[in-house]
Amino acid sequence: MKIKNICCIGAGYVGGPTMAVIAHKCPDIKVTIVDLNAQRIADWNDENTDNLPVYEPGLDEIVLSARGKNLFFSTDVEKAIDEAEMIFISVNTPTKTYGLGKGMAADLKYIELCARQIASVAKDNKIVVEKSTLPVRTAEAIKNILDNTGNGVEFQILSNPEFLAEGTAIDDLLSPDRVLIGGGTDAKGQEAIDALVDVYANWIPKERILTTNVWSSELSKLTANAFLAQRVSSINAMSELCEKTGADVNEVARAIGMDSRIGPKFLKSSVGFGGSCFQKDILNLVYIAKSYGLNEVADYWEQVIIMNDHQKRRFAANIVKTLYNTVSGKKIAFLGWAFKKDTNDTRESAAIYVADDLLFEQANIAVYDPKVEDKTIFKDLDYLATRKPEENKEGVTIFQDPYEACKDAHAIAILTEWDEFKDYDWDRIYNNMKKPAFVFDGRNVLDVEKMRSKGFVFSSIGK
Ligand code: UDX
Ligand code: ADP
Repeated sequence: MKIKNICCIGAGYVGGPTMAVIAHKCPDIKVTIVDLNAQRIADWNDENTDNLPVYEPGLDEIVLSARGKNLFFSTDVEKAIDEAEMIFISVNTPTKTYGLGKGMAADLKYIELCARQIASVAKDNKIVVEKSTLPVRTAEAIKNILDNTGNGVEFQILSNPEFLAEGTAIDDLLSPDRVLIGGGTDAKGQEAIDALVDVYANWIPKERILTTNVWSSELSKLTANAFLAQRVSSINAMSELCEKTGADVNEVARAIGMDSRIGPKFLKSSVGFGGSCFQKDILNLVYIAKSYGLNEVADYWEQVIIMNDHQKRRFAANIVKTLYNTVSGKKIAFLGWAFKKDTNDTRESAAIYVADDLLFEQANIAVYDPKVEDKTIFKDLDYLATRKPEENKEGVTIFQDPYEACKDAHAIAILTEWDEFKDYDWDRIYNNMKKPAFVFDGRNVLDVEKMRSKGFVFSSIGK
């Protein structure tokens, strides 16, 4: 079966870049990305690629290479479903904020809506691909809905989790470590798997395309994220011990990372991991484990989140303690709001929680981030519902210029590892700050000795 028409439901951080790369690499396949959010679609279609809704290095060129040729962004969900032989579901699956599993389980209402819509529209056989991260056995639920509400057409469900990391999405998509495709084990399932393998084989060597059963594929995604997050929590746990013992967490990370069994990646101590995946997926894993009565398994993974919360909290507490136990009325400049560099995504960013803690201490927070929009920052804080939106507006000011953000500040907190922070005129910043001029480097991006020699009272993570 040769795929000529692909539809992707959901034009977000995963759907947008992934489909743009498929279109770019497969000129013979028409790719249509649909979304209910008309503004988002308009932004994807914007002539000026600075207005694309997702910021990713290299994404603009990829979009420009295919848009209008074989890559289309549209709000006409039904037409795109009808035309496609293969439909990717790439909608959001946030943690549930209500009811059973609140705060832990993934909310699958958007997935279910997609499945129902596909079922009602499809007039011929379709391959439905889960791209969003989903709990194990979601494919079964999707299949159930499709088979029972559809027009008698046949559906094959594949799981094809996305492993791209934001900020490096385009490189990750162009040369992934592996592509994982899970599908049915019968002949028809195999045929569907082969159809998707053929799409990726346009640019990815076959030996890097891994095929498994659906459940292994779904669980592998959760497992990969849990392992990655666990490494960050593990090194962050050691960072606190380093601070007490005089060890340096960067040196420890280097020393252990040279052990080929451990490896050097994901050992950067930080103010805490963020992003739309790690916390959500681990909570989901914990929920699933609990639902099978596997309490020890659940507790084991939950500790990764507990450690991460502690790391964010103690960063904020250290600022308060160091500033003579009060930040009330003091300007604290935040450099960075995104959950990591090279993205405008702020979901679960440590900055949100550190800001929340400092607002409780009545600090005045001044934020500068090179890519995050002002309204996103307020939306993030308001979403916590820890105080009234007016109070967030009062406590937080957003700056377009880092030097203005830092002017007259009592302290600077670095929350994202944007490269540009290293190149600032730190003497100028120092001269314009209140003294002592405190810097709290939550990402260990600045040179400690250099900063201290300029006069800053400098504190980093794990040193
Ligand atoms: C992650 C997975 O890496 C990716 O495979 C999956 O598809 C989605 O989730 P992402 O969340 O985009 O990707 O970024 P990632 O690079 O994994 O970083 C997640 C968080 O961990 C960021 O806040 C980052 O700053 C933090 N981190 C990462 C550290 O604090 N230290 C590290 O060593 C690595
Ligand atoms: P991710 O990081 O997983 O890509 P995003 O929130 O960035 O998540 O994107 C998910 C997108 O899916 C959003 O733009 C949302 O509007 C869209 N979406 C959710 N449900 C539907 C649906 N039933 N039909 C079309 N689009 C949907």
